Amino acid sequence: MKAVVLVGGEGTRLRPLTVTTPKPLLPIAGRPLVERQLVWLAAHGIDEVVLSLGYLPDAFVEHFPGDRFASMALTYAVEPEPLGTAGAVRFAAEHVGIDERFVVCNGDVLTTLDLGALVDFHVERGATATIHLSQVEDPSALGVVPTYPDGEVEAFIEKPAPGTAPTNWINAGTYVLEPDVLARIPPALATSIERETFPRLLEDRGCVYALGTGDYWLDVGTPEKYLEAHADVLAGRMGSPPVLDAREEAPGVWLQGDVDLAAEASLEAPVLIGDGVAVAAGARVAGSALGPGASVGPNAVVDHSVLLSGARLARGALVRASILGVGASVEEDAAVLDFSIVGAGACVPASTTLTGGRVPVAASAG
Ligand code: GDD
Ligand code: MG
Repeated sequence: MKAVVLVGGEGTRLRPLTVTTPKPLLPIAGRPLVERQLVWLAAHGIDEVVLSLGYLPDAFVEHFPGDRFASMALTYAVEPEPLGTAGAVRFAAEHVGIDERFVVCNGDVLTTLDLGALVDFHVERGATATIHLSQVEDPSALGVVPTYPDGEVEAFIEKPAPGTAPTNWINAGTYVLEPDVLARIPPALATSIERETFPRLLEDRGCVYALGTGDYWLDVGTPEKYLEAHADVLAGRMGSPPVLDAREEAPGVWLQGDVDLAAEASLEAPVLIGDGVAVAAGARVAGSALGPGASVGPNAVVDHSVLLSGARLARGALVRASILGVGASVEEDAAVLDFSIVGAGACVPASTTLTGGRVPVAASAG
């Protein structure tokens, strides 16, 4: 079966990380989000994937040289302008000539859903479209989907005001579609599948079903969720090891390649230390992922944070619940706190504090 993976969004809530790298290519514990999704699709029998691209498409083409990933053929459908989540599906489907049942996934989702069970449910119900649902505490940033007891969809309520949602079961961004859904999407016009195509299908008494499951599920859309994805993957919620080539030095302490860890450094599980990382004496790394070539100076602290490759903390610096982009640096005794993001190549000056802030990508790195 074919799958269309929607990866054309700009990832605005993860700027400035997404200024240089599209969200699906950001690493989650050492492996790009989209690769984790492709591994999942391959494991469930998908044999061909169309990447639906718009924003920074060359980055994907360069990332997947050749036209294969694992056992799957890969095709790129690059939109001339953003066509929205439905327009993108039609454009991608036409690009490869989809004329049979297929799967669509939002490209920013991590899940352990049994895709085969979703397809079986779709077939049993004779549905035109079937949507995977997940239960969340606060559905206000997502698409809320109330259903009847047999799973037929009652309504679509996209991004309801806080406290107004009739249920906390939300559209989890994986769909099984019959090809006739495609004819309902206007060609070459920006259209949203959640706000337009699915609600209209319901109005026309189309067969739209949804299956709620308790599988692991996360939309990696914000800094908070990006850090949560790391915590979950490091804790083994997507399987163990958290990334293929990692070795477990001590319980929950995962190392890749050659690392330079001072005997007097402290590592508190779960952590992932990438190839070429240096951690100096007196430094502490807790609940964090350090990308290849990152370095942590003497007495510096990395706490529940992510350092992308080559990021650097000078002596005494502190990074807590924050993300450093590729080659970013935090100078002596500076602190980066509370869901801050430092862009690629940017620098946080010595003895300054950044709380919930954004530092733009350095001109040299853009
Ligand atoms: N090709 C293409 N073109 N892809 C797009 C476009 C576009 O114009 N717009 C968005 N996408 C991609 C994004 O890259 C992302 O992978 C996916 O479509 C969903 O877009 P988001 O911007 O992340 O949407 P959201 O998280 O606010 O809401 C959607 O996902 C939730 C679950 O993850 C909706 O589908 C909600 O109903 C749902 O609950
Ligand atoms: Mg999203």
